[in-house]
Amino acid sequence: MEKLVIRGDHNLHLSGEVRISGAKNAVLPAIAAGLLTSEEVRLSNIPRVKDVETILTLIAELGGTYTIDGDTVAIRVSKIRSDEASYELVRAMRASILVLGPLVARFGKAVVALPGGCAIGSRPIDLHIAGLQKLGATISLEHGYIQAQADRLRGAVIEFEKKTVTGTENLLMAAALAKGETILKNCAREPEVADLAVLLNKMGAKIEWMGEDTARIRGVRELGGAAHVIIPDRIETGTFLVAGALASGDFLIRNVCPEHTAAVIEKLRASGAIVETDGENALRVAGSREVKAQDITTSPYPGFPTDMQAQFMVLLTQAAGTSIITETIFDRRFSHVNELVRLGASIEVQGDKAIVKGKTLLSGAEVIATDLRASAALVLAGLVATGETTINEIEHLDRGYERIEDKLRGLGASIERVKA
Ligand code: EPU
Repeated sequence: MEKLVIRGDHNLHLSGEVRISGAKNAVLPAIAAGLLTSEEVRLSNIPRVKDVETILTLIAELGGTYTIDGDTVAIRVSKIRSDEASYELVRAMRASILVLGPLVARFGKAVVALPGGCAIGSRPIDLHIAGLQKLGATISLEHGYIQAQADRLRGAVIEFEKKTVTGTENLLMAAALAKGETILKNCAREPEVADLAVLLNKMGAKIEWMGEDTARIRGVRELGGAAHVIIPDRIETGTFLVAGALASGDFLIRNVCPEHTAAVIEKLRASGAIVETDGENALRVAGSREVKAQDITTSPYPGFPTDMQAQFMVLLTQAAGTSIITETIFDRRFSHVNELVRLGASIEVQGDKAIVKGKTLLSGAEVIATDLRASAALVLAGLVATGETTINEIEHLDRGYERIEDKLRGLGASIERVKA
């Protein structure tokens, strides 16, 4: 077990430049898409994070092979030896559910552990299941496992009751190999979903976007190999933008897609930070001495992402006045609040709202993170808290951030990983 020790400073100064890794939430479905073909799928700009290791372990358990060279992974699934995603792996990472669609579409059978509760909310998968049933899969739930079967999936018209990112991804992958045409309505349009569709089309799928959130997929018999560069991680980008907004000085954030972070940039600018594009793939950020209070409501893309809610809350503890954050995506995503309060923040949760009163001067303490983005928020808070902040249980952080401490140290922060 490891922990992070941060020596914070109210007058945090950051400068230099940082490079953003590939998007965790884009690479996970892209790796699962490797199950759809017997040919090689080669993905570059992959982040070296724990969740990627977990899904690659799952691919190997199913019988696929992979090789990693730098930031490129080559996956090949000629045949499978098992069609089961174990509870152990699904519990470690809910996104393991992404193998359900590809397995049933290509091999006609999948057994995937039902993900249980989660630190950020109830997170059901009913929409994945209902969609696959509409494509003709027979699905039963036995002994905590989803058992899905189908001779060959058949195209259908499916309207998601609610926008779901991995649900849309599972159905895009399944429909790609179904017989006939599928129309998916009310799809999630997160950049990671769009990136998956680009990869699938390179593999020979026929996916077209029609209007805002409808996809038309003409099923094909077989998909082939492809090479694809994963998009930059917009949540890591947003996390570093908030670090910049908290600090004096300015720094450059490279390998980003500014458009994907537009909602966060808008709120950062409204709070007083200076965020400028520097060419097509870089952003420059500088903090303001006087952070302005903001109200934030999370919503599906292109709205303000739930995955940035915790980090932005840290910035709002430094704003004069009251800010109200409304979380509309997950029902329990405020686990960072109590820890931020331990650092001296004034935040009260009322149902789906967190009321943040500022400006509060934070002081370092020992804290525990219970999910990925909550951990990132605690790192940011530690940077501006006086004295030492120790962040325990950083395995959550390692699931989605590639050596965040090295990147922050490169900007001048005092942060170290030590054995717990
Ligand atoms: N929902 C249902 N039924 C379903 C599926 C979803 O009711 O069958 C609900 C959820 O309970 C939630 C909402 O729909 O209220 C949206 O959930 P969604 O399915 O979009 O979330 P997800 O696909 O499980 C992905 C990301 C999350 C991110 C959310 C929302 C991946 C691997 N994970 O999760 O990322 O928060 O979309 O944008 O793409 C993270 O990276 O920290 C993270 C949690």
